[in-house]
Amino acid sequence: MTYENLLVEVENKIAVVTLNRPQALNALNKGILDDLSSFFDDVKSNDDIRVIILTGAGEKSFAAGADIKEFASFNAEEGKQLAAKGQERVFNKIENCTKPVIAAVNGFALGGGLELAMSAHFRIASTNAKLGLPEVTLGLIPGYGGTQRLPKLIGKGRAMQAIMTADMFTAERAEQIGLVNEVVEQANLLARAKEIAGKITKNSSIAIGQAITAINSYDKPNGFDIEIASFGYLFEEDDFKEGTTAFVEKRKPNFK
Ligand code: HXC
Repeated sequence: MTYENLLVEVENKIAVVTLNRPQALNALNKGILDDLSSFFDDVKSNDDIRVIILTGAGEKSFAAGADIKEFASFNAEEGKQLAAKGQERVFNKIENCTKPVIAAVNGFALGGGLELAMSAHFRIASTNAKLGLPEVTLGLIPGYGGTQRLPKLIGKGRAMQAIMTADMFTAERAEQIGLVNEVVEQANLLARAKEIAGKITKNSSIAIGQAITAINSYDKPNGFDIEIASFGYLFEEDDFKEGTTAFVEKRKPNFK
């Protein structure tokens, strides 16, 4: 799996996907977004990958937002298309990926960069991380889902304040309010992300895929129905037989 703007390393069923444009603080230009879209299409059928870790190249930034220089001269229709296509091709695709996606936030996660981290299934951060949605300083609002995902993660009032002031959250504050799950020293960030990913790979990947679908529906009117449908579906799967048999036989399950 090679992409011009991403580094992809696969080991032990875990893919570390690194946004690789450190000279521009990994700002999300068309090239990075195209590559992310392709990667998340390609990963569906890649049996070597069970968990994806998203991070940024360099020690300073996860991603400093959409590439401002690229859209600075856009008109209203082009702006709308930027947001619509980006959401459909990248951000929603990541959120709905049935393989777990962990964002390892290693520095600035601003604007589209934080929106990318929020489309991942959960986030861990390094102590130097700074997270925020500063779009109003550019005369814009978040366009890659930030007005929807931030309030879900931290509550409406905090999201209102963060978006209106454009203030950045420190890693410590982000952990307090549930924007990130854990904060670790930068030198340990990838190791910790891989440790969590490794735990996940030991569990049933088919069950985890269904869990993602059900949890993503938690705020939808039919969320409970989706849970029931997913629960029932799993009874037809080999992993259910293996998991329950292993319990009865007092051994660890060996999921395919
Ligand atoms: C393009 C960017 C960039 C961005 C940084 N760079 N952020 N280029 N788009 N979003 C480039 C700079 O131009 C510079 O390149 C290089 O990266 C290093 O950045 P500096 O500003 O010199 O670094 P520093 O002084 O340390 O400041 C770091 C920073 C600042 C605080 C993160 O770069 C910053 O404020 N960036 C913009 C953050 C932002 O507003 N993000 C939201 C974007 S809008 P050169 O070649 O000039 O030296 C958005 C909308 C999403 O995300 C929705 C779309 C639909």
